[in-house]
Amino acid sequence: MATSSSAIDSILVENRVFPPSEEMVKNANISGMDAYKAMCAEADKDFEGFWGNLARKHVVWTKPFTRVLDGSNAPFYKWFDDGELNVSANCLDKHMGTPVENKTAIIFEADDGAVTKVTYKELLARVGQFANALKSRGIQKGDRVILYMPMTIEGVVAMQACARLGVIHSVVFGGFSAKALQDRIVDVGAVAVITANYQMRGGKEMPLKAIVDDAIALGGCESVKNVFVYERTKTACAMTAGRDHTFSEVLEGQSTECAPVPVNAEHPLYILYTSGSTGKPKGVQHSSGGYLLQAKLTMDWTFDLKPEDVFWCTADIGWVTGHSYVVYGPLAAGATEIVFEGIPTYPNAGRFWDMVQRHKCTVFYTAPTAIRSLIKASEADDKVHPKSYDLKSLRIIGSVGEPINPEAWVWYYNHVGGGRCPIVDTYWQTETGTHMINPLPGATPLVPGSCTLPLPGIYPAIVDETGEEMPNGKGGMLAYKKPWPSMIRTIWGDPERFKKTYFPPEMKGYYFAGDGAVRSEDRGYFRVTGRIDDVLNVSGHRLGTMEVESALVAKTDLVAEAAVVARPDDLTGEAICAFVVLKRPLPSDEEAKAIAKELRDWVAKEIGPIAKPKDIRFGENLPKTRSGKIMRRLLRSLAKGEAITQDTSTLENPQILEQLAHNN
Ligand code: PRX
Repeated sequence: MATSSSAIDSILVENRVFPPSEEMVKNANISGMDAYKAMCAEADKDFEGFWGNLARKHVVWTKPFTRVLDGSNAPFYKWFDDGELNVSANCLDKHMGTPVENKTAIIFEADDGAVTKVTYKELLARVGQFANALKSRGIQKGDRVILYMPMTIEGVVAMQACARLGVIHSVVFGGFSAKALQDRIVDVGAVAVITANYQMRGGKEMPLKAIVDDAIALGGCESVKNVFVYERTKTACAMTAGRDHTFSEVLEGQSTECAPVPVNAEHPLYILYTSGSTGKPKGVQHSSGGYLLQAKLTMDWTFDLKPEDVFWCTADIGWVTGHSYVVYGPLAAGATEIVFEGIPTYPNAGRFWDMVQRHKCTVFYTAPTAIRSLIKASEADDKVHPKSYDLKSLRIIGSVGEPINPEAWVWYYNHVGGGRCPIVDTYWQTETGTHMINPLPGATPLVPGSCTLPLPGIYPAIVDETGEEMPNGKGGMLAYKKPWPSMIRTIWGDPERFKKTYFPPEMKGYYFAGDGAVRSEDRGYFRVTGRIDDVLNVSGHRLGTMEVESALVAKTDLVAEAAVVARPDDLTGEAICAFVVLKRPLPSDEEAKAIAKELRDWVAKEIGPIAKPKDIRFGENLPKTRSGKIMRRLLRSLAKGEAITQDTSTLENPQILEQLAHNN
């Protein structure tokens, strides 16, 4: 795709502006730029009043708050902190006795195409029953529970049941390895794991429970007293008597009614692990009140949600997007949503479009990586091209997780959105909890590749290393000048790391996002250029370079040293390139290929298949300065296949650059 002609296209299209249609503006929840600006002005004038009013309007409180923001112990901000609520009651009970009660909450489509629907009333009953099952096993408010689940109604039910009891969930994506799962079980001190026997993906049955067993067997998981196993398929899995229970066992005889437990607004709703610039993933802790508020609000603002919408966010519940826009936001907003178990390419690459057509989806939200792979597939086969489907039900389409390149943007706009649907390119992070910078469909003129402007009440800035704000047109680091309700509260068990990572002293109290960005000179629109720390973004999945390096050097019989960098990739956005020094002489071609495979499999075992390096290069050493520092800039050039133009005179060992240019 990235031919020289498409590179020219991208320069041309970047300057085009796509204003919303008059009809879209007329019917939108936030109608027109003046309405947007008025909301921003309101927040400017009275920041706490702005958020306080919204929190009173959009959240049901069992005990009203009297304080909006407590910054006395900044950066450990507290929001609405003398208020009490229950998040699950805000997603389910709130709708009882209203027209939403009998509305479809979830349209679940299984990997094999089987469709199951549940109404809000039925979902409440299932959540209540599962919460009672957890309670019967002694699990209570403040306990931590790990979920290792497929995309199913049961996954949503389990998360909501935790929220109902004030139990803090920590979902681990089903693609992570036993080792990654064990790390998280230990770090969070989980009392239970909720899993499934198997998961179905692309027609294949893949084990989950067996991986939980492996994780626990790795040691340090003594806190886990119960493992709950959803029988997704009929295939049996090993069960440990006394510890492991099937869902049917624990649900039997449980009442469907379970009173929601009120919690303080600051009570942790969940902990979600994400990669940072050190080897160890960090447990991002989110609150109940502030988080829920913005999850609900962004449904109304970003997705312009209307009662008749059929909303579909394709993200897995293992990622923050799945938390905010599958489990909490849509339900708090009373939406009908699609939950999809499978993958976009099974039974063929038309699956998404076929589902949009069949379920009459109106708001569709996915990742640029999925779009890019579906472009490629549809170029090869007309049958899976969006034009072969009726996508007229769509009115808004969204993008999340990584920068969307203008080529993909224009294709998405024309072929999926029919030139009619605004693209909401949402820039945010696990740490921000919910959307931060994105267009509003009935207000913001769109510019491909730009996430445009902040939501009302959000104050981003582009700063230099000293925290000084940069003028428009000059790139710098993205930061936020003010806190926001759904922001990360701390890193679980490591408040110092939280402070150091997000509020470094030179940033003058601003939240430091870790991304580079630039504002356009004409409109002041934001364009996020990517991470400026050691974080990789592969297919929208976030990984740390150090995390992959640690995994590689843990192969102690083979690896002496490793350095990992990202390089651009047409399909996955970024790809992982690993430079490895072996504990043996430089291998021959054949041997090198075999070792590279062994290392990829090893990384998959240590972290998960998503972390497998695409490129592996061997050298007798890494390029280092005389003081022994690895010159990563050189490695990045090598990874891209660029000629080395940098000054290599400070390099201890220039000859190894040639060795490292060779890919395996
Ligand atoms: O680099 C930014 C990129 O993804 C990072 C956050 O990753 P994660 O915490 O896994 O959350 C993903 C879902 C929100 C950011 O620091 N990113 C996310 N959305 C965009 C983006 N980069 C450019 N444009 C976006 N819309």
